[in-house]
Formats: sequence, C-alpha cells, structure tokens
Amino acid sequence: MSKYPKPEKPFVNPSLLSADFADLKAEMRKCERAKCKWVHLDIMDGHFVPNITIGPVVVKSLRAANKNLFLDTHLMLDDPMKYAADFVKAGADLITIHQEAVYDLGKAIRAIKRLGVQVGVCLKPKTPVSALEPFLKDLDLVLIMSVEPGFGGQAMIMPMLNKIRELALLKDQKRYHYRIEIDGGINTETIALAVAAGTEVIVAGSAVFKGGKVAENLADLRAAMNASNPAR
Ligand code: DX5
Ligand code: ZN
Repeated sequence: MSKYPKPEKPFVNPSLLSADFADLKAEMRKCERAKCKWVHLDIMDGHFVPNITIGPVVVKSLRAANKNLFLDTHLMLDDPMKYAADFVKAGADLITIHQEAVYDLGKAIRAIKRLGVQVGVCLKPKTPVSALEPFLKDLDLVLIMSVEPGFGGQAMIMPMLNKIRELALLKDQKRYHYRIEIDGGINTETIALAVAAGTEVIVAGSAVFKGGKVAENLADLRAAMNASNPAR
C-alpha cells in the first residue's frame, strides 16, 4: 500500500453534545443506522471552556453500548495529559488535545501515540496554523474550531475556512497524512463551504440532532454537501 492514502470522501461526524444525554446509546444507534462510522465526543472540564460534559466513566459506557462507532474524543481540558490514558482505557479511538492547553506539544503527541490510539491537535479560533507546523508530520488529525469551544449551536466564524485551506495546501505539498476536521457552526448552508475548503471530517452537533430526526438531518446535510461538490 502507498504511504500516502488517497483522500477519502468527506463525511459527517455527529457531535453527541447536541444529543439526548439521557439516551446516548439510542442516539449512537441512530447515527450508526444512518451510516455514520464516527461520533465526536466533546469533553469539557468547566475550566478550559465554560461548560462541563462527560468524563471517562461515561465514555466507557458508550464504548460498551456500541462497539462499532469510532470514538473521536475532543478533550477541552486544562490538563488533557492527566486524563488521556483514562479516555483511552475507556475506549476512545482518537484523542485530540488543544495546542493551547499543553506546554510541550511534541511530548504530548508522543505520549498519546504510545497509548496506541490516533492523535489529533485542535486550534481555537485565535490560534494560527503556524503554531502546529513542527508537529504536522506526526498528526493523524488536525481539528479547526470554527466557533469558540464550549457550546453547540453557534454560528460559524467564516475566516476559519482559511485555516482549512492552509492545512489542505500543506497536506498536499508536504504529503502529510493528517485528516482535516472542522468543528462548529456546520449546517446545510455551511457544509459545502467547509468541504470546498478541504475539510475531510465534518463535525456537526445541532444540525444532526435537531428535532431528534437524525436520519433526516444527516440526509439533508449530505445532500447539501454533494449538491455543491458534485466531484466528491
Ligand atoms: C463546541 C464543540 C462542538 C459542538 C459543535 O465546543 O466542540 O463539537 O458540539 O456544535 P454545532 O455543530 O451545534 O455547532
Ligand atoms: Zn468538538
């Protein structure tokens, strides 16, 4: 197999932040039935972001409830390396930490790789792509926040698409293997813009779970994505 896999088709990655937290097993099942392979877990500590969600105990139950979905785990924590191993033990498949949260990013990336999972790094809206340049070659995923992290249902900050374009260009020029993921403000209006800019993994929370109609909402998002990007 070539060292540089062919780019995959962009796909929607539902953020459980907007799901029914009293019924996450059923919500994951709905995503799986609608042909999702990934779900996005937003882990918040009330310090790095002004909101609190779930910890390793809940992730462990999610893993037990669903063995198939790839658990894309976005750590919005002041001290992500204190908990990374616990999330891996609980069943996370990919751990994404924030560039802004760690002092020695290279060391943190190596430590996550040693845990045997994929590693991603996330940038808040004010952090430039250049902050990641020395590390890009080692990453499985780069996550661009297109809203200030903390809450679902916000409007996309459009200039964040320039960061996606920059990452897509660097990936192409230097043959990096990371996936490019976007998080925040994705809906049927913005999804095509994100894909056109070069996004491969599209996190969507409120747009997927609104009204509890996961299958219909995913169909609408996929239709909006394909209508404007017929080549995909
Ligand atoms: C925000 C989270 C997002 C959020 C996106 O901090 O990282 O994953 O759920 O929500 P929507 O898609 O509603 O903007
Ligand atoms: Zn997220």
